[in-house]
Amino acid sequence: MNVRAVLFVTACVAVAVAAPAPAAAAAKCNMKSLYPPTNTELPWHTIDLDLPPQERWAHVVRPKAKQIHDMIYQVIDLIPAQLRKTLMEHIDAKADEILDAFPAPYGDEIRGIANATGVDVGALILYNMGYEIEGGCTSIVAQNSEGNVFHARNLDFGLGFGWDKANETWALTEKLRPLLFNARVVRNGNTLFNATYYAGFVGLLTGMKTGGFSISVDTRFDNSFWKGLIDFFKGDHSGHFVAFTTRSVMENNATYADALKALTSAKMVGPSYMILGGAEAKQGAIITRSSNESLHLWTLENDLHNKHFYVLETNYDNWVEPPFFDDRRHPAEACLDQLGASGMGFAGLYNTLSAQPNLNLLTTYTTLMHVATGRFEAYVQKCDTHPCTPW
Ligand SMILES: *[C@@H]1O[C@H](CO)[C@@H](O)[C@H](O)[C@H]1NC(C)=O
Ligand SMILES: *[C@@H]1O[C@H](CO)[C@@H](O)[C@H](O)[C@H]1NC(C)=O
Ligand SMILES: *[C@@H]1O[C@H](CO)[C@@H](O)[C@H](O)[C@H]1NC(C)=O
Ligand SMILES: *[C@@H]1O[C@H](CO)[C@@H](O)[C@H](O)[C@H]1NC(C)=O
Ligand SMILES: *[C@@H]1O[C@H](CO)[C@@H](O)[C@H](O)[C@H]1NC(C)=O
Repeated sequence: MNVRAVLFVTACVAVAVAAPAPAAAAAKCNMKSLYPPTNTELPWHTIDLDLPPQERWAHVVRPKAKQIHDMIYQVIDLIPAQLRKTLMEHIDAKADEILDAFPAPYGDEIRGIANATGVDVGALILYNMGYEIEGGCTSIVAQNSEGNVFHARNLDFGLGFGWDKANETWALTEKLRPLLFNARVVRNGNTLFNATYYAGFVGLLTGMKTGGFSISVDTRFDNSFWKGLIDFFKGDHSGHFVAFTTRSVMENNATYADALKALTSAKMVGPSYMILGGAEAKQGAIITRSSNESLHLWTLENDLHNKHFYVLETNYDNWVEPPFFDDRRHPAEACLDQLGASGMGFAGLYNTLSAQPNLNLLTTYTTLMHVATGRFEAYVQKCDTHPCTPW
């Protein structure tokens, strides 16, 4: 079976579940006062870029080897047996070729994680590409009345990957939470940036460089993704995976302006929303990309002229209405509008992101970032109230 067919079937696993979606959310704010939460702050680890790529993650992933294995196979085991065998054989056979096609040093980092955990390298490749395929999120960059810019995000993941009827949970989501940690990423002995990670995933989905900028990535769905990925597998390696792009920008760019330029110009493998925040007033942007080099840019600066004090992205193009079955935009807006610019800060943003449906059964964490001061906080999230929005 060829790669196209294999990938197409994998896509359907994710998409099929979105179909019977009933929950039309009224644009009402369900916020409560929950900040600061207790006992949910993520543990910290240091990732040292001065170590060889194969060794950088070993101390974090080795103690979590079993959890990483179980999490990845939660997904792989959902693929029909014969197809799973073909897919894994194909990826294993091509593993070195694929890892060498990833921009350095990501291939070697993944090899090191495979070595440290004993998890099959093909399975780790799928995991590291997984965010391109599926994922829900909410990201906000907001400016308060004093001109302080804050960046906050929820990361929701696991739709369609194993519904646990008894517990009313998504099996993959439950397996992702224990893998969460914050990293101080160090180079030349200094913290270069902070980031929130799932152990074993080397790209950057959420991170901040003090005095420079903050980035979060939200999944975007369009018809161009499969084409981009198939081109990549066929040998066209000119496109960039989103989480590798954001990590390179975190490592190599110093300023908001440089990061904006890099994120708006890189050629991408697939569609994405990249959300950028800065250290100074008016620095915030939602960057919408796709594999065909199209770009849509929504900036906080433009919005401030329209008397808005935030830009917000879930998983739908922000210039059109979200679908009725997954509207997390209007409820979040209702909370932000209720708080007003004077209420923007870690507490208001955490409370907004902890309100249903922005908090739902897929939510794994909330990260709060203030680039100007270097304040960076991340909390595990789990919707424990019943009923809770399934996505
Ligand atoms: C795997 O890790 C061991 C140490 O844990 C090291 O000696 C060996 O060289 C590594 N193998 C590869 C292929 O990186
Ligand atoms: C429900 O969750 C518990 C604890 O996480 C787990 O041990 C149990 O297996 C789950 N129930 C089912 C039916 O999977
Ligand atoms: C910003 O980072 C990108 C990606 O690593 C790099 O290509 C570019 O040269 C950097 N720009 C500046 C001005 O450093
Ligand atoms: C790129 O793809 C988008 C859909 O994501 C489409 O709206 C746009 O017209 C395309 N642009 C080009 C230049 O093909
Ligand atoms: C990382 O986070 C810590 C804790 O919030 C903060 O003190 C530090 O300034 C941050 N460092 C960078 C480089 O962002």
